Amino acid sequence: MNPITTLIRIEYLFIALTLLQSLSATSRLSILQRCGDDLSVSVADYGATGRGRRYDTVAIQSAIDDCASSAALHLRTCQVHFPPGNYLTATLYLKSGVVLDVSRNATILGGTRLQDYPEKQEKWYVVLAENASDVGITGGGEINGQGLEFVTRFDERKNVMVSWNRTGACSGDECRPRLVGFIDCENVRIWNISFNQPAYWCLHIVRCQNTSIHDTSIYGDFNTPNNDGIDIEDSNNTLITRCTIDTGDDAICPKTYNSPLHNLTATNCWIRTKSSAIKLGSASWYAFRGLLFYNITIFESHRGLALQIRDGDQTYYYKVSEPSLDVCGDEGNVSDITFSNINISTRYYDELWWGRAEPIYITTCPRDSSSRAGSISNLRFINITATSENGVFLSGSEGGVLSNIKLHNVSLSYKRWTDYTGGLVDYRPGCQGLVNRSTAGLMMEHIDGLDLEDVSMRWAEEKNNKQWNNPLDFLPSTVNNVSLLNFYTGLWQK
Ligand SMILES: *[C@@H]1O[C@H](CO)[C@@H](O)[C@H](O)[C@H]1NC(C)=O
Ligand SMILES: *[C@@H]1O[C@H](CO)[C@@H](O)[C@H](O)[C@H]1NC(C)=O
Ligand SMILES: *[C@@H]1O[C@H](CO)[C@@H](O)[C@H](O)[C@H]1NC(C)=O
Ligand SMILES: *[C@@H]1O[C@H](CO)[C@@H](O)[C@H](O)[C@H]1NC(C)=O
Ligand SMILES: *[C@@H]1O[C@H](CO)[C@@H](O)[C@H](O)[C@H]1NC(C)=O
Ligand SMILES: *[C@@H]1O[C@H](CO)[C@@H](O)[C@H](O)[C@H]1NC(C)=O
Ligand SMILES: *[C@@H]1O[C@H](CO)[C@@H](O)[C@H](O)[C@H]1NC(C)=O
Ligand SMILES: *[C@@H]1O[C@H](CO)[C@@H](O)[C@H](O)[C@H]1NC(C)=O
Ligand SMILES: *[C@@H]1O[C@H](CO)[C@@H](O)[C@H](O)[C@H]1NC(C)=O
Ligand SMILES: *[C@@H]1O[C@H](CO)[C@@H](O)[C@H](O)[C@H]1NC(C)=O
Ligand SMILES: *[C@@H]1O[C@H](CO)[C@@H](O)[C@H](O)[C@H]1NC(C)=O
Ligand SMILES: *[C@@H]1O[C@H](CO)[C@@H](O)[C@H](O)[C@H]1NC(C)=O
Repeated sequence: MNPITTLIRIEYLFIALTLLQSLSATSRLSILQRCGDDLSVSVADYGATGRGRRYDTVAIQSAIDDCASSAALHLRTCQVHFPPGNYLTATLYLKSGVVLDVSRNATILGGTRLQDYPEKQEKWYVVLAENASDVGITGGGEINGQGLEFVTRFDERKNVMVSWNRTGACSGDECRPRLVGFIDCENVRIWNISFNQPAYWCLHIVRCQNTSIHDTSIYGDFNTPNNDGIDIEDSNNTLITRCTIDTGDDAICPKTYNSPLHNLTATNCWIRTKSSAIKLGSASWYAFRGLLFYNITIFESHRGLALQIRDGDQTYYYKVSEPSLDVCGDEGNVSDITFSNINISTRYYDELWWGRAEPIYITTCPRDSSSRAGSISNLRFINITATSENGVFLSGSEGGVLSNIKLHNVSLSYKRWTDYTGGLVDYRPGCQGLVNRSTAGLMMEHIDGLDLEDVSMRWAEEKNNKQWNNPLDFLPSTVNNVSLLNFYTGLWQK
């Protein structure tokens, strides 16, 4: 038995059963355990002031280190308690067996100086757990990255941010600390906590096994770029449930850089973002398999459900360069993904942000000429209701055909309510970029096997409804095996 306890097991089984009852899909839910009589220490006893001016780093880190030693000694978890107060800190290192218990009215405030973070940019987090097991964060309080302190120019279109790129630690305009990171961890539980104002990505899960994130809210500034909600990378068995994410950049964003990502379930969430609410990619060097997104509300976002598969089959290179190597993965391919019971509204925002109000958006266009396209198959969209300012975009590529895609009981309503101009198709990043093209209810290219059953498209009656063109727009030569069963188009009856 793992040292962490049973509190949540019942709840998990409940969710698991509910999902298994309603779906024949896919994901295995992680079960994390937690003991009744936790050990506990308070940062106050280590001299943390909680006054928000002086750095409390040393006190907090000592508390964590002692707590970790006790946890190891007694084979159970140990909580580091933060009483109400503001705890200004440099990077904190979370250790195996330790749960941060940030109480209501307590805030961990990330430092805003370069010297508050370690030398290597990959480790720039306010809270970082590396190679740890049975770790977590809870308590009802807040971790705050002071993201607004990193804005060099406020701009309603898109803020301009500080970038610590003169240090040589990284280049470009994305050199800022992330908020919370779990790297190479097992049995991670994050619950009853609020993550606010990240300067860059908010919650980053990298190469982890068995992660549960529930009853968690994330707030990022709506005009700030790159403040993603949850980025899950190369990780297996991840559960996200009962979350609220309101942020400028992508909200839930699975990626693969060095190994596949299997079994991610996200349910019962509310999302608003100026980018994609759910986005697979664009880092997509390895496979995504067994993902389920269920009962999610996406409100006034720039894009709803998105797959941006840019990198494709990585083993291809090995196959070519080292044909003797026996590689038999499903690298770069995306399969067995279900989106169900999702209510979406998507609208236009400034075109500095990727997205053009598409409720569903899929592309496999390769990142650049050296990339190989990944394929997408066995993708299901069931019980979806969307109101949007633009249509659905399903765009495979020559080497990355979309196959076995099913839309079942999908109700699409089209309406314009902002003043942004339409008529642009957005292939960014890279590829053809922004392209002028008429606005269709459903745009298709490079597809082999698309099944629409009980799908409706309704247009709001508008004076200038010439901005909408055909319900279906496709290049016949690249689209095959499309089946329409009970497909309806008409006017939107209020
Ligand atoms: C779709 O909705 C119907 C009616 O609410 C429900 O019975 C069915 O289980 C749902 N399907 C999925 C895959 O959630
Ligand atoms: C994903 O879930 C399936 C079904 O429960 C399970 O068989 C498989 O081992 C899981 N994959 C990983 C990588 O844990
Ligand atoms: C993940 O959870 C599953 C199911 O409880 C368990 O069998 C497995 O050992 C866990 N994996 C790790 C790495 O702890
Ligand atoms: C938190 O702060 C609010 C407002 O100041 C106060 O009403 C409440 O009692 C505090 N709760 C705790 C647990 O300190
Ligand atoms: C990870 O932790 C395990 C046990 O705690 C240890 O044996 C191993 O050396 C650590 N690996 C790294 C890369 O730190
Ligand atoms: C969240 O934490 C607060 C105390 O900080 C507690 O009162 C509340 O019950 C917790 N909620 C859940 C769902 O665990
Ligand atoms: C460094 O960051 C600034 C601010 O975002 C940006 O304007 C500049 O181009 C970056 N410089 C380099 C060399 O990447
Ligand atoms: C996730 O599962 C895949 C498939 O089994 C495996 O190749 C990969 O190493 C696993 N990742 C982690 C972090 O355990
Ligand atoms: C769907 O999620 C919402 C929270 O976003 C929750 O209130 C509701 O109970 C969930 N419905 C089901 C059927 O789980
Ligand atoms: C991945 O997709 C490509 C292109 O569709 C296909 O040729 C390849 O066989 C797929 N690989 C696996 C293991 O499914
Ligand atoms: C979808 O959400 C909107 C509000 O954002 C609400 O008006 C509408 O009734 C919801 N539709 C469904 C089918 O739940
Ligand atoms: C179709 O999906 C809607 C939600 O979008 C749901 O209310 C309705 O029950 C579903 N109908 C069927 C027949 O599953």
